[in-house]
Amino acid sequence: MDKREFMRRRKRLMDMMNSGGMAIIPAAPIRHRNGDVEFPYRPDSNFFYLTGFAEPQAVAVLVPDRPQGEFLLFCREHDPALEVWHGRHAGLEGACADYGADDAFPISDLDDIVPGLLENRARVYYTMGFDPEFDQRLMGWVNQVRGRYRSGVTAPQEFISLSHLLHEMRIFKSPPEIRVMRKAAALAAAAHSRAMEVCRPGLKEYQIEAALLHAFMEGGSRSPAYPCIVGGGANGCILHYTENSGTLNDGDLVLIDAGAEYQGYASDITRTFPVNGRFTPNQRAVYEAVLAAQQAAIQKIVPGNHWNDPHEAAIRTLTKHLVDLGILKGRLARLIKDAAYKPFFMHRTGHWLGMDVHDVGDYKVGNEWRMLEPGMALTVEPGLYLKAGTKGLAKRWWNIGIRIEDDVLVTPEGHEVLSVAAPKAVAEIESIMLHARAA
Ligand code: GLY
Ligand code: MN
Ligand code: MN
Repeated sequence: MDKREFMRRRKRLMDMMNSGGMAIIPAAPIRHRNGDVEFPYRPDSNFFYLTGFAEPQAVAVLVPDRPQGEFLLFCREHDPALEVWHGRHAGLEGACADYGADDAFPISDLDDIVPGLLENRARVYYTMGFDPEFDQRLMGWVNQVRGRYRSGVTAPQEFISLSHLLHEMRIFKSPPEIRVMRKAAALAAAAHSRAMEVCRPGLKEYQIEAALLHAFMEGGSRSPAYPCIVGGGANGCILHYTENSGTLNDGDLVLIDAGAEYQGYASDITRTFPVNGRFTPNQRAVYEAVLAAQQAAIQKIVPGNHWNDPHEAAIRTLTKHLVDLGILKGRLARLIKDAAYKPFFMHRTGHWLGMDVHDVGDYKVGNEWRMLEPGMALTVEPGLYLKAGTKGLAKRWWNIGIRIEDDVLVTPEGHEVLSVAAPKAVAEIESIMLHARAA
């Protein structure tokens, strides 16, 4: 993403911070997996959103109206000895030249420099509670400034949650963000197509996961946005199934929830299809119910509708189909009121989508569901999970677990399905799988 995009974001944030404010945004810590092994480093979303800087051991400080420069970046210095082990990093020169910092300082100078910056600032914008160690350090710096009051220095009096301002910004995607999210969704859509092509009875679930990861990385993604879910048969009824260790059996469905992360943005797609390439009549009937619910929900995504409209549409359609299938009995209005669908559909129809797969942003404003507005991105993911042994559920439905999930952008005219390239209609899926087998 162009560095001007990050500059625009910093400027907007500083415009929203009252004068006399100062924002402190630490990078995510390095996390250890085991022993000497670290997890692949993933920058903190807020930090990356404002800087585009992907290195650990960094802190961004925004000081609006500071004459010597408003954007300060503390980061690792060039150190030839360290670079032998850890590779190149931007260094102080790169922080200014490539990331637009007005000033860059060694991360080791944080304790010396930040207290001075805090002097005579009225407010600190900071996200408290994520990194207790850093919280402590910040309090220490503020106390140092307090200790200098006899020399006429004032210390900040107010601490304001930075997340609130930033999350309001992050909920509205800019044109560059939309382009990146389209790409993240296209990569995941291609991966789901690949999974349909390679699926065969007898494969292990993780072998399908391998095909997904291969397609992601081949397309330019460095990581899935979250651990892939590949659940065959009964495993499709476990919402957060990530073991992916089972065998895919002839006659079963497989539920795949997999999204790529691309340049810091997530996609989040679920598709469900028959392991052997052909839906049974019962599987197909449930699939069509979920698909109808998903389409009804997507139709509700237009500016001016509220956050819960898609969910309500999905519930209505799912309940109606559950009655038609004979799984629920009773009057539609009553069943909806009683949430009779809950044993089979126990999660919500979607969430905000962006840098985080469950992205930031409020769902309610003043206790009312939030209005949908152009630039917001969300998922639409109804499902039906007909778990074996559910009370009153006829055996012919057992272990049919289906979710269909797409990524949708609210546009001025209505919506754009970012993940439109992921096959979804029964005939399309069956045709892809049939042709892959014939090849
Ligand atoms: N993959 C997580 C979700 O669908 O919300
Ligand atoms: Mn998902
Ligand atoms: Mn989702």
